[in-house]
Amino acid sequence: MKSYDREVLNIPALAFERGKIYGIIGPSGAGKTTLLRIINLLTEPDRGTICFDGRPVPPNGPARLALQRQMTLVFQKPLLFSTSVRENIAYGLRTRGYSRAEIKERVAALLEKIGLPHMKERHARTLSGGEAQRVALARAVAFKPKLLLLDEPTANLDPANVELMEKLILQLKQSMEVTIIIVTHNIFQARRLTDETIFLYDGQVVEAGETSKMFKAPRDARTQAFIEGRMVY
Ligand SMILES: Nc1ncnc2c1ncn2[C@@H]1O[C@H](COP(=O)(O)OP(=O)(O)OP(=O)(O)O)[C@@H](O)[C@H]1O
Ligand SMILES: [Mg+2]
Repeated sequence: MKSYDREVLNIPALAFERGKIYGIIGPSGAGKTTLLRIINLLTEPDRGTICFDGRPVPPNGPARLALQRQMTLVFQKPLLFSTSVRENIAYGLRTRGYSRAEIKERVAALLEKIGLPHMKERHARTLSGGEAQRVALARAVAFKPKLLLLDEPTANLDPANVELMEKLILQLKQSMEVTIIIVTHNIFQARRLTDETIFLYDGQVVEAGETSKMFKAPRDARTQAFIEGRMVY
């Protein structure tokens, strides 16, 4: 449970299985970002427990930090450091003590994967929105996180870049053991990408389950209204 000036999140229980892609959908203000920040241990719930690998996350200390280092959050607007593309991708590897040779190899592989090997030395500030978001994704996954959290990662992108990002996300799922939680306004994207969908409405989980089932036969009238685009938001 989380309140600011009012209660913004009230979720009795919610579990995520390893290796799946989850979509969190719901109208603006439903609490999607708040939920992602709580999962990422950036925001503390007022009540309730967060578990990781079946164990409660301690409120502070090195064990909490160690868990935090296994997850990563990519924001809607890519936040890149004011340095080269290469340095941006290498950052998380350096802070985690990878060797120079390993860093070089991983950065090169990731640049290839995101289709930007020729932009290695470019300054991040000169990138287009789509390029920047791909670099942000490469930086986020460079250290092979167990949990990848994406908050509307394609909201500002044109269709071609949306397609590229979606391909990358699906490749990630196949190539590494990572659980992905993606917040999206785009119900078509949720449908294309995710195994499971969580429909959040006014701070509550109205419906959660297998994506194909939920889109075919939503159980709740609000879910139905939302996925049919009849809900105004
Ligand atoms: N730091 C904060 N202080 C006060 N209220 C907050 C804070 N963060 C979020 N809220 C409120 O909590 C509610 C849920 O916000 P949240 O950002 O989680 O929504 P969201 O579902 O991500 O919306 P959007 O789709 O617009 O990004 C909103 O009413 C918001 O105003
Ligand atoms: Mg949000």
